[in-house]
Amino acid sequence: MERLQKIIAGSGYCSRRKAEELIIRGEVFVNGEKITDLGSKASYSDQITVSGHNLKLENKEYILLYKPRGVITTTSDEKGRKTVMDLVETTNRLYPVGRLDYDTSGLLLLTNDGNLTNLLIHPRSNIEKVYVAKIEGIIKPELIKKMCAGVFIDGKKTAKAKAIIKKIDKKKNISLVELTIHEGKNHQVKKMFEAIGYKVIKLKREKFGSLDLHGLKSGESRHLTIKEVKTLYSIVKK
Ligand code: URA
Repeated sequence: MERLQKIIAGSGYCSRRKAEELIIRGEVFVNGEKITDLGSKASYSDQITVSGHNLKLENKEYILLYKPRGVITTTSDEKGRKTVMDLVETTNRLYPVGRLDYDTSGLLLLTNDGNLTNLLIHPRSNIEKVYVAKIEGIIKPELIKKMCAGVFIDGKKTAKAKAIIKKIDKKKNISLVELTIHEGKNHQVKKMFEAIGYKVIKLKREKFGSLDLHGLKSGESRHLTIKEVKTLYSIVKK
């Protein structure tokens, strides 16, 4: 449940302040009932009418989740493991946009906007994804270069990628590498490193298109703003 003015503003109909004015003026109905109290709450599945306009078609929800490790990216799990849906509060049927492995943490988008989901996961969407991978061993720059030029995984060559070596810890025998890719093949990052002879021991997705994890702790989530949704649409429609 969310404040009515927040849902109206979130639908893109008008600003939150304007929505408050409309509520006070008696222009807003929830499931046919006039609501004039600014403290009223509603859910995204309610039928909301504003000045005679039905907001039902705008009933889209977009949640950015900082997925922790040890959580599965499905809506339900037959083995009873914790899923990403257990971490967000919603009355809608949301679906993850792509997937992060059970042991991968980071940015995951959940939405019921099938149109945007299809655009985002389409191989030609070219959405940039930034990962930070902890690698076993001391990474060799020439091998990183080779990986970024394209390596074969499951018989197909990966597209060009960018990588920055963030840290090398000789004592612990680990390296931290930031990898930017535009594809979304299964276990892509792990397989790319595997192709050059390294094992990923920890993986986190830090960015997805125009979105990052700024302000969120592991396990936390927030709704996207209208502006963020519009920006995502503008990226995939280019
Ligand atoms: N690449 C992987 O190997 N795993 C993920 O979860 C995401 C990208």
